[in-house]
Amino acid sequence: PTGPPAAATPRVPRVSKATGAGDTRDTALPFLAAYRTDEGQPWVLPVVRKVEQMIANDASLNHEYLPILGLPEFRANASRIALGDDSPAIKENRIGSVQSLGGTGALRIGAEFLRRWYNGNNNTATPVYISSPSWENHNSVFVDAGFKDIRTYHYWDAAKRGLDLHGLLDDMEKAPEFSIFILHACAHNPTGTDPTPDEWKQIAAVMKRRFLFPFFDSAYQGFASGSLDKDAWAVRYFVSEGFELFCAQSFSKNFGLYNERVGNLTVVGKDADNVQRVLSQMEKIVRTTWSNPPSQGARIVATTLASPQLFAEWKDNVKTMADRVLLMRSELRSRLESLGTPGTWNHITEQIGMFSFTGLNPKQVEYMIKEKHIYLMASGRINMCGLTTKNLDYVAKSIHEAVTKIQ
Ligand SMILES: Cc1ncc(COP(=O)(O)O)c(C=O)c1O
Repeated sequence: PTGPPAAATPRVPRVSKATGAGDTRDTALPFLAAYRTDEGQPWVLPVVRKVEQMIANDASLNHEYLPILGLPEFRANASRIALGDDSPAIKENRIGSVQSLGGTGALRIGAEFLRRWYNGNNNTATPVYISSPSWENHNSVFVDAGFKDIRTYHYWDAAKRGLDLHGLLDDMEKAPEFSIFILHACAHNPTGTDPTPDEWKQIAAVMKRRFLFPFFDSAYQGFASGSLDKDAWAVRYFVSEGFELFCAQSFSKNFGLYNERVGNLTVVGKDADNVQRVLSQMEKIVRTTWSNPPSQGARIVATTLASPQLFAEWKDNVKTMADRVLLMRSELRSRLESLGTPGTWNHITEQIGMFSFTGLNPKQVEYMIKEKHIYLMASGRINMCGLTTKNLDYVAKSIHEAVTKIQ
């Protein structure tokens, strides 16, 4: 017989287009969450360039598979910067980690493990709480891992343009015991609003009393304040309070390694034996997910973190990025205030990290896009890295016009 049968059955099912694909949401356009220089360009950190060359010139390196859980020196160093050199959990040998494909991979492996093994061996009905609003992928990652009861907790108070601490604590008080809470370690995405240390203490107290599980998402360590230690304060405080927890780390932003897909899932358990048992289950999950992780990003991060000199250079590079964002915040705020733009603009400098909730309403956003060709999310969220010393005046004047002309 020659040629295919006349009416061959299609092998690929006909499906409808996924909602979210191709529109302007984070999931469709992840580069919206990337750093840009004052020239509006992507930035390869100088320390990363240097280490890449070291790796390229190191004839002892090869392309053999990495272990399923990843490069040991990467995992140990990555967890160390999350938990701190003097972490009681590290000293007591009750931490473990999994190298992952970005922060997303760490969240996914953690979610998959929790669904299988968190509290008994079927957790599809265990409530998972996500802040309102949150990085959009949180919901999808936990849904795809099989959780059926995804809930939101209060976080953003639009009127106050700040944290709704009361609502948040109230939701924690009412959550069923053993619920899982996704917490942004720093630089909350998308609001840029973090709890203060005192507020974190209140959150930890309720979570401890109500047996709630903290799953930290740390995607911006160092990027938020310019200090690695400051940005890891909440995670370290929870560890010092004796919590067992997960912490998903991303090195996409703070190393600028977006397309190398390098992340780490740190597990803090109650003892070494328990952590090893958890890791053995995670190894099984990784084996069927990506089998073993890629090496380039992990080598870059491990080499940098292990050398005191490269580590110092990296901290300096991270500070360069954080400082540029902080400068754009203060410059935008001072321009709006000197223009006398109606409303208060202190939230622009009080928010932290790459994103800002400007407070512009959907109609004002539409005006900015249609009349001024300044593109931002319908929620009023902007990436501060879109601002440069060259466009600040234009953006500030446009916000002023939008706010004064459109209610
Ligand atoms: C809060 C948050 N978590 C996780 C991630 C994912 O990071 P990665 O690109 O390393 O998967 C991002 C990226 O935008 C994020 O903002």
